[in-house]
Amino acid sequence: MEQPEQKHQRRVRYKGTHPQAFEAKYKELQPEKYPETIEKVMQKGNTPAGMHRPICVDEILQVLHITPKETGLDATLGYGGHTMAMLQCMDHQGRLFAIDQDPIELPRTQERLVNLGYGPDRLVIKQMNFSEIDQLLPESGLFDFILADLGVSSMQIDNPERGFSFKTEGPLDLRMNPETGIPAMYRLRNMSEEEIEGMLVENADEPYAKKIAAAIIAEYHKGNEISTTTQLQKVIKNAIKTIPSNDREEEIKKSCQRSFQALRIDVNHEYEALDAFLEKIPQMLAKNGRVAILSFHSGEDRLVKKSFQYYFREGIYQKIAPEFIRPTLEEQNANSRARSAKLRWAIKG
Ligand SMILES: C[S@@+](CC[C@H](N)C(=O)[O-])C[C@H]1O[C@@H](n2cnc3c(N)ncnc32)[C@H](O)[C@@H]1O
Repeated sequence: MEQPEQKHQRRVRYKGTHPQAFEAKYKELQPEKYPETIEKVMQKGNTPAGMHRPICVDEILQVLHITPKETGLDATLGYGGHTMAMLQCMDHQGRLFAIDQDPIELPRTQERLVNLGYGPDRLVIKQMNFSEIDQLLPESGLFDFILADLGVSSMQIDNPERGFSFKTEGPLDLRMNPETGIPAMYRLRNMSEEEIEGMLVENADEPYAKKIAAAIIAEYHKGNEISTTTQLQKVIKNAIKTIPSNDREEEIKKSCQRSFQALRIDVNHEYEALDAFLEKIPQMLAKNGRVAILSFHSGEDRLVKKSFQYYFREGIYQKIAPEFIRPTLEEQNANSRARSAKLRWAIKG
């Protein structure tokens, strides 16, 4: 039988194949809608975009020994994972204060936690720098426990518009609070070669600091600006592309990671903020109050250790961690961002 002639129909083009915007690109940004995607990403040891997986939760809860009716402070709210775990220990009693300096992520986290039923009677969220925690005192009174999970959140790193990652193109900004301070591109432009080298060594122990600093200044002398993440990444790569190494690609990647970390610490005045925070903690804690701090590089850990030891010698802390606590191997394998974490604690006398 003769088949009726089929009219050729142009296939309708699928418009969503190449979404450009970060928000459009990742199903992971809507965890409620795509639970299987989230599960798959986590099984690979990665963190889904737009989320942050809390680290050392069990170890922190063990150290903080939270009981209902207590007053606590999460000094680094982030995605709210630790906050949630602490609220669960408080069993809808007591009050938790949670702060973060990030005005972009904080409202998102706040909305999520309010939708889960944590109103201001139990959870007080404020946008502020932890260097100013003493400003909470009139409202909060002394704290029974304080937690700080230092550094940046996965949401900050993964958002190209904020410039924290050398892997994606974006403005070289790196501010956790973009409402204040100087973006990294201008900060770098105003530093001398010696200052850049010093920053790379002091903030990230960068072994190729001299070469990288010289290459950055040479770039400016050529009349080129370094205003995006990938521009800086290329300058670093070119500066060290001839290093003798069995695994040059890996070395270059590590140097990029360290250089971005060094710049981030500088731009956000991270050591100054941590120093002020550590100095204020003893006056914010009630008798027998506990503090736990999770750090991610040697510069931070050194400051935390020194401060805890100092106030212990002064008799202000009755007990401090004899050694730092590491995430279990299982956690390190399940979450690559947990690998460098070190947890320290102290108890006020
Ligand atoms: C590692 S994340 C915290 C993640 C959080 N514990 C969670 O479970 O989702 C660190 C957070 O601390 C915030 N932060 C870093 N330095 C800060 C400071 N000096 N004052 C207030 N927040 C700060 C960052 O904006 C970021 O959101």
